[in-house]
Amino acid sequence: MAFLKDLSTRRVQQLRNGLFVLCLLPLVRLVVFTLLDRLGANPIEFITRNTGDWALYFLVTTLAVTPLRRLTNWNWLVRLRRMLGLYAFFYVFLHFTVFFWLDHFFDLQEMWADIVKRPFITVGMATFVLLIPLAATSTNAMVRRLGGKRWQWLHRLTYVIVPLGVLHFWWVKAGKNLLAQPILFASIVGVLLLTRLLSQKNRQKLRQTLFGPATNLKS
Ligand code: HEM
Repeated sequence: MAFLKDLSTRRVQQLRNGLFVLCLLPLVRLVVFTLLDRLGANPIEFITRNTGDWALYFLVTTLAVTPLRRLTNWNWLVRLRRMLGLYAFFYVFLHFTVFFWLDHFFDLQEMWADIVKRPFITVGMATFVLLIPLAATSTNAMVRRLGGKRWQWLHRLTYVIVPLGVLHFWWVKAGKNLLAQPILFASIVGVLLLTRLLSQKNRQKLRQTLFGPATNLKS
């Protein structure tokens, strides 16, 4: 696997292009199933669940990029992160659009009443709203405009967004007594967040050892 450590810019670009197409496949599958009338007895439920599932997969995969990069030293992985995050947003957006369009026929008042009434939807909506600033500031121009530090702080919202997404999923499944998958996702996200926290602590410790305790105040 040593060849994966130092991929050339061209190879990474090829990988990104391949990944871009791959990430579109769930949508293509949905379109094909719709055209072939293979969405089952409840097509709205099928599309809602499918887009929700993919939104969650992409969110968790995005969160996994940095721990995986640290573990493997494949630094190019970081160049795939933005695309994965944007795909998470794209599938959540589709998930929300199905809800707004096919469940509520663009009736804002009715949709709002549903969001307030059902706590699992309240959490889903909060997750979606929190994702909007991250998607909006994902371009290089926005990173420059905000400045690296502020951008980084904003994008730490990920550590709230992903657990909220899992909570929403948990709530959906808990109502049906199907907790195996939510437990699996909660465990994966727990481990990813823990590695993040530990590596931050380690960095702080190292800085403290090298430069003394005063530097700790800055971090
Ligand atoms: C990041 C945000 C979100 C994520 C990751 C997410 C993910 C999911 C997942 C994984 C499911 C269950 C799919 C299954 O049964 O396999 C689901 C169901 C659902 N979500 Fe979301 N969702 C999000 C936001 C939203 C929003 C904004 C709304 C609406 C305002 C929403 C409404 C629903 C509804 C109505 C269901 C179906 C519940 C059922 O089958 O009874 N979600 N979502």
